Amino acid sequence: MGAASMASMQGKRILLGLTGGVAAYKSAELTRLFIKAGADVRVVMTEAATRFIGPVTLQALSGQAVYTDLWDPRIADNMAHIELSRDRDLMLVAPATADFLAKIANGLADDLLSTLCIARRCLLLVAPAMNVEMWSSPATQRNVALLRADGVTVLGPAAGDQACGETGMGRMLEPEQIFAELMSQFAPRLLRGKRVLVTAGPTFEPIDPVRGITNISSGKMGYAVAQAAVEAGAEVTLVSGGTSLVTPAGVTRIDVQSARDMRDAVMTRVKKCDVFIAVAAVADYHVVGAKSQKIKRGDGNLTLELAPNPDILAEVAKLPRAPFCVGFAAETEKLHEYAQAKRKKKKIPLLAANLAQHAFGQDTNALTLFDDKGEHVLPRAPKIVLARQLLAHVAAMLRR
Ligand code: CTP
Repeated sequence: MGAASMASMQGKRILLGLTGGVAAYKSAELTRLFIKAGADVRVVMTEAATRFIGPVTLQALSGQAVYTDLWDPRIADNMAHIELSRDRDLMLVAPATADFLAKIANGLADDLLSTLCIARRCLLLVAPAMNVEMWSSPATQRNVALLRADGVTVLGPAAGDQACGETGMGRMLEPEQIFAELMSQFAPRLLRGKRVLVTAGPTFEPIDPVRGITNISSGKMGYAVAQAAVEAGAEVTLVSGGTSLVTPAGVTRIDVQSARDMRDAVMTRVKKCDVFIAVAAVADYHVVGAKSQKIKRGDGNLTLELAPNPDILAEVAKLPRAPFCVGFAAETEKLHEYAQAKRKKKKIPLLAANLAQHAFGQDTNALTLFDDKGEHVLPRAPKIVLARQLLAHVAAMLRR
């Protein structure tokens, strides 16, 4: 049984908007998933969307009238553009075309769906679907950035084969993935009122002003944890090594370079925190006597002397009034044995472990959680999904 079929959206009121893209057929399946989970789905289609899929199909699947017209006579006072969204918990536009994103990013309202978007009071999520060049065009990227800044949640798109025969970024997420995103929007705010501090990414230990020692951590898992913590209602601070990732909305980010910088940034903030989650790949050593000028090439060997870095997680865990501490461990072998030993050595209640060769730089991972009750396997999934499961586990442990 898939996650979607077990989940409940009982009583949730969704306005599902379709715009004109081939992916419109996937929204039929999406509607079915929502209905099966108990949601109330009202469908609004643009004129172009009706060229791709018939309103009758969506009417049958949603069990409700489908709206396409700003001047729909079924709405008594001619206020369809206001009324159809007022009783909704959330609006989702899937698929959202490049044209539609451009429209709502700029506040245009020349049909029913775009007018509903600008007149809404509820959350808006969009699932873009378009050709790879359309997606990566500067105009679309600008519009997506505007929408994000306005608080619109952008789901996907994903990379893959496209209906036009090209391959690349722009495919709409699969119905199951969009369904999971909405489930998380409706999820209870398990960490409401909690302050969460997260470390993420690699550290960089300078050798001289232009060189240093670092590692291949992408920061993706740590950023996913920060995002999931915000979704769960927490106040989140992210202490980050160098990454090229976008800061999740609502997260306060502090950029650091070396492990010692990271330790200082953590130590000044950790006393105000309820939960500390150390996801960063912290270098174990730094270079003794890093040079302030660039090292010149010489003839002989060059030796670097390395001294141990502070163990940030162990230091936090040792504090007299330590927050709830979560560690991450990337092992290359003997996962179970090493992970439990590490959890005990660092004296932390929870450790999330994975096999390094299956995790670094990827968008998915598989984790095993180790706590005082044993181990809990989280099967391979996108990092954001794992992050949500991890935080649900943390919230459950906090309640005990
Ligand atoms: N950690 C930390 N400060 C360090 C080293 C690690 O906060 N100086 C944190 C990481 O963020 C992670 C966990 O501790 O949560 C990983 O610990 P550990 O596996 O001990 O780090 P490794 O150096 O990978 O240990 P080992 O080399 O023994 O596998």
